[in-house]
Parts: sequence; C-alpha cells; structure tokens
Amino acid sequence: MILKPTKENLQTAAELLKSGELVALPTETVYGLAANARNAKAVDKIFKLKQRSKTNPLIIHLKNYSEIKSVTDELSGWQHNVLEKLKPFWPGPLTVILPKSDNIPTETTAGGESVALRIPSNPIFQSILELVDFPLAAPSANISKRVSPTKAEHVKDEFGSKLTVLDGGSCQVGIESTVVSLLNDKASILRPGLITKADLEDKIGPIAANNTTNSAIQISPGQELVHYSPNTRMEFFDPKKEYANIKAGLITLQTQETDSRFVQQTALSKSGDLSEAASKLFATMREFDKMSLDLILIERCEAEGIGAAIIDRLNRATKK
Ligand code: TXA
Ligand code: MG
Repeated sequence: MILKPTKENLQTAAELLKSGELVALPTETVYGLAANARNAKAVDKIFKLKQRSKTNPLIIHLKNYSEIKSVTDELSGWQHNVLEKLKPFWPGPLTVILPKSDNIPTETTAGGESVALRIPSNPIFQSILELVDFPLAAPSANISKRVSPTKAEHVKDEFGSKLTVLDGGSCQVGIESTVVSLLNDKASILRPGLITKADLEDKIGPIAANNTTNSAIQISPGQELVHYSPNTRMEFFDPKKEYANIKAGLITLQTQETDSRFVQQTALSKSGDLSEAASKLFATMREFDKMSLDLILIERCEAEGIGAAIIDRLNRATKK
C-alpha cells in the first residue's frame, strides 16, 4: 500500500516498525526497505522478502551524528578524527563502515563484526527516525540483484501492495550512497556514489579506491558482479555496431542527437549533467524494461567523479 506522508500515516509506519514489521521509506538516494536494526527477527524479514544472501550485511540509518557511538565499538583516535572530518557530508548519501557494538545483532551485519552507518537527509525518513527510538536497517527496496527503486511505485512493482510504502516522490540522488570503510585505520571506497573520491579526499586526504567492478575479489560482501539488472538484455551502446533487425532502445547520458536506428530514445540530462543523469537512471531503466524491447542500450561516460558511480552500476547491469 502506498501512503502519502501525512502525520497519521507517519505514525502508522512508525507503529509497524515498532511491532517488528517492515516499511519501505524514501531516502535521498533510493527507497529503503526498513526494519528495527536491533531486532533480529525484524531484520530477518528483510532478508526473506528481498531474497537477499545471508552473507550481505545491511546499512543502519541513524538520526544524527551523535548516535554513531551507540552502535559502534570503541573507535581509534584515527577513526574519531576521520569521522569528524566526514561530518559535513551528513545528513546525506555517505555510508561508513566501523567496528560494531555488541548491541547490534549479528543478523543485521550478516555475521560480521563491522557495521555500515548512514545518516539520511530525507525528511520523511528523518521523521520516522524521530518517531521510533531505534536505528533502522534499510537496504534498497528491491528484490536482490534487481534495479534499485527511486519511486514508491517501483517498490510496489517489486513487492506488491501488501507492503506499506511511504511516498516521498522521486529520490533526488537516484543512486545509492557512497560506501567508505574506515576499518583497520585505512579509508577505502567500497561503493562509489554522488559523494566522489575527490570530495572525500578533499576532507581526509588520499584514499585507495577499491572498486571491485572488474575484480573477482569482493571487498564489500554485497558488491555482486551482477546487479541492477533489468529483465531485458542491457548493453553499453557501441556507435560502430549496426543494431539491424533488432528492437532496441537507447538511453543516453550526455548525447542529445536522436538516432533513427532505435525505436525508443531518452536523454537523461538535457545539459549532459551526470548528476542529473544519475538521478533518472534507474527509473528510466525500469521504464525501458516495460517496453518489450529486445535490447536496452546505454551510453558510456568517463568513469570519473559521479561518472565512476554510474559506470559501477552499469558494469553490473550489463553483466549476465
Ligand atoms: O543509499 C543507500 O545506501 C541505500 C539507502 C536505502 O540507504 N541503501 C543501500 O543498501 O544501498 P544496500 O543493502 O542495497 O547496499 C548496502 C551495501 C551493500 O553492498 C553491502 O554489502 C554493503 O553496503 N555493506 C553493508 N554493511 C557492510 C559492512 N559491514 N562491510 C562492508 N560492506 C557493507
Ligand atoms: Mg541494493
């Protein structure tokens, strides 16, 4: 059921969460499938509904910066220092990995001793965090390996109308948060996002970018090589290919010219702005997936800045 975020509906959603049920909530990145992060049984429902691997830990969403210490183990001086420097990115699309406190069940962290934390800026999510007195575990509200949802209807398309979804309209960022590990006193990027490597380095100095896209090693347990997959085959657009006798649709990130070979074409940004393109990417992939095309083609961009986050998602989406 999709609910408007009225005061009454926010209360209903908070009560559901308090009773150990799941609710889908908007964040500034993508919609999340939320449950009480301290309740192992509630968290287990997320894994079941999403058909998520039990080895893939969840992100915990906190109300504010001062709550970090309530879910982490004792931090090193280095970790404290780096956290302080990262503070300006919150509330916002940044997730950090830190040692876990004993009061977070290992069900939430998939058996691991570290915890992924983020302080979301979406006002609806923030209102819910105010109404419940626990942190919320919330992975993206899609069935595992599928495209992340950026509208309430997408969540309904994934899980049907039994699940309560608070409608926050379209997510502004449109791709998931940047994930940075601060374990072992070393910063490394586990998942690129809107907050880029350069943005982070500006605050904390040089970081190793551990993008696992083209590697068999999974540094972040959930960084699966196949992910974000539409049902329709998806490939990177190759201008030199003919694409004859095939019903193909083209999604461009920066190009504006139309190409007569394709039955459908959409430019994600009229000005070629990659942040705008990222915000519309998943929704457009879902639209194209409903068009009975033989093939969805997507234009490449430089894997630099926000482009790194886009290419990370597209490398997975085009892998079968
Ligand atoms: O923007 C976001 O981060 C969204 C919204 C809903 O907050 N959430 C999201 O969650 O993308 P999910 O579960 O789809 O992706 C979380 C990623 C996964 O790749 C997971 O493996 C990784 O974060 N992760 C979670 N806990 C971790 C940990 N302790 N160590 C390493 N990676 C972790
Ligand atoms: Mg996800």
